[in-house]
Amino acid sequence: MKIRVWDLPLRLFHWFLVMAVIGSFVSVKLGGNAMIWHGRFGYTVLALIFFRLIWGFVGTHHARFAQFIKSPKAIFAYLKNPAETPGHSPVGAVSVLILLGLFLAQALAGLFASDDIAFDGPLVKYVASTWVELLTSFHRLNEWVLLALVGVHVSAILYYKYAKRINLISAMITGDKDWADAAPLVQDDTRVRLKAMTLLMVIALIMYYFLR
Ligand code: HEM
Ligand code: HEM
Repeated sequence: MKIRVWDLPLRLFHWFLVMAVIGSFVSVKLGGNAMIWHGRFGYTVLALIFFRLIWGFVGTHHARFAQFIKSPKAIFAYLKNPAETPGHSPVGAVSVLILLGLFLAQALAGLFASDDIAFDGPLVKYVASTWVELLTSFHRLNEWVLLALVGVHVSAILYYKYAKRINLISAMITGDKDWADAAPLVQDDTRVRLKAMTLLMVIALIMYYFLR
């Protein structure tokens, strides 16, 4: 039986995040005038992650942090005896939190980063130059951590697909998984989608107000 696992807002969040992250890497490598786009892609990452953090409290069943963040004991129990779950597995949940946390840190540090030539993050003017240096260094070093993290993330998904024959990617596209047992209902309807759109618009307006 097919069940809905990921609501549409969460799926759009994921694929827009992938596009915005690729955009920020490509634009920074182009440099020069493309740095304006680096900033824009970076704001998009920031807005998406703010959205996801709030969606973790007000989104549908499997999107909620309370649903997938487990105690260390439960994580070890899962490692010993991995039982398939409809939403994020207890181990997958750890990687979700690390991905969200480090991309959030990257985008926040970017607001205070400067290339010392022509492009400054919008909050550089409010802080002392030692902070700008420190956060710019973090922003540079974290690049490699992020690349490694995305490498591990994509490898894990491909391992599931080809070694364990579990296709997590199709669920992140269609929202559905084949599931034999009883599972909580995910009401991925117009009301939920309007709620998500409103939330994203409020986040964008607040960001525009503070970062313009
Ligand atoms: C998650 C989103 C972001 C990612 C993945 C990202 C990634 C990067 C990378 C890989 C670099 C090159 C570091 C190097 O020189 O080796 C860089 C530089 C930079 N980024 Fe971002 N960035 C993001 C968000 C932002 C934001 C929101 C801003 C500000 C609006 C920003 C401002 C800058 C600046 C000013 C530099 C130049 C720093 C330098 O010359 O070392 N970034 N970013
Ligand atoms: C820049 C690259 C990427 C980033 C930053 C990223 C980030 C994330 C995040 C934060 C989640 C958790 C979703 C949630 O909010 O609950 C997630 C889940 C997922 N991602 Fe990615 N992702 C990236 C690339 C990819 C790619 C290329 C694929 C496909 C091959 C992919 C497939 C998936 C799948 C299938 C899940 C759900 C995993 C599960 O069922 O537990 N991701 N990703």
